[in-house]
Amino acid sequence: MTATGLIDTARRLVGAGKGLLAMDESNGTCNKRFADVGIEQTEEARRAYRELIVTTPGLGDSISGAILYDETIRQQTSNGTSFIKILCEAGIIPGIKVDIGAKDLAGRPGEKITEGLDGLRDRLKEYAGMGARFAKWRAVITLGDGLPSRGCIEANAQTLARYAALCQEAGLVPIVEPEVLMAGAHTLERCGEVTQETLHSVFKHLYTQNVMLEGMILKPNMVLPGLLNPKQASVDEVAEATVKILLRTVPAAVPGIAFLSGGQPAELASARLNAMNLLAKSPASLLPWPLVFSFARAIQQPALEIWRGEEARVVAAQDALRHRAHSNWKALQGDYSAAMELA
Ligand code: 13P
Repeated sequence: MTATGLIDTARRLVGAGKGLLAMDESNGTCNKRFADVGIEQTEEARRAYRELIVTTPGLGDSISGAILYDETIRQQTSNGTSFIKILCEAGIIPGIKVDIGAKDLAGRPGEKITEGLDGLRDRLKEYAGMGARFAKWRAVITLGDGLPSRGCIEANAQTLARYAALCQEAGLVPIVEPEVLMAGAHTLERCGEVTQETLHSVFKHLYTQNVMLEGMILKPNMVLPGLLNPKQASVDEVAEATVKILLRTVPAAVPGIAFLSGGQPAELASARLNAMNLLAKSPASLLPWPLVFSFARAIQQPALEIWRGEEARVVAAQDALRHRAHSNWKALQGDYSAAMELA
């Protein structure tokens, strides 16, 4: 794909007033989410659940792209139609998670490095041949006593940049996801400092590896206090802190920013996204990029809890999934309100 093709795909993903659905849980993560709600952990259960998601009527009204996992991209509905085909017919661009997970970083106790660069060029070629148009790689940065280290931030930022360069070579738009985790007792300000340092490092390495910023998407965390901090922040404080850090670190050439949800309650993630888009709409706003969503849990979790593996509950689960997708779509216009939530 040419540079123009990459730019066009990136704009269709983040510049069309819609967001992304992450349904790219690895088998291990998917099984864990299933176990938590009492669903059997089999390949068939994972396939049936992903079929429920991709066949949800009207999903394409609010979702521009869906991120799949290696097992899922090869799967089909029960009547034999590939998930890729179903998504494309719904107007949803298929993408693929290509990292193979965060592993312990040698020499840096308590910190992680995301792996998956070995053989990536060949895997990207295969996924592009199957119809994927974009990819995703998640790096995690842990906060704690003396953490994160410079070594962890730099190693992950360089790895993200090498992944992004390989994606663009293969004609896939890279979603670059450096996630500063919510776990811990840190303050909102500390999350802001670490997010700022991480994003600076990521964009320095993207530049060093010659990644075309116009043909990529940033998927950051929102700036939040740690889950264990008794002083939680208001929706507006989160929105202001997040926008401030992004303005300081993300070049205007990037076509859009798509947030991860990181385990936030679904309705709170919608409210925070809404507040950021209200800031973006204010006359004094300097924001050069659309702020959209690329949520997994904050879109899927209510549907998963309704489904619980039962055929009879598929339609109710699809209603819940569409409702969360629609709520987040409303948040992109600053039109989301708690009153939209089902009783
Ligand atoms: P969450 O929205 O559940 O954080 O997942 C997004 C994602 O893609 C994580 O890699």
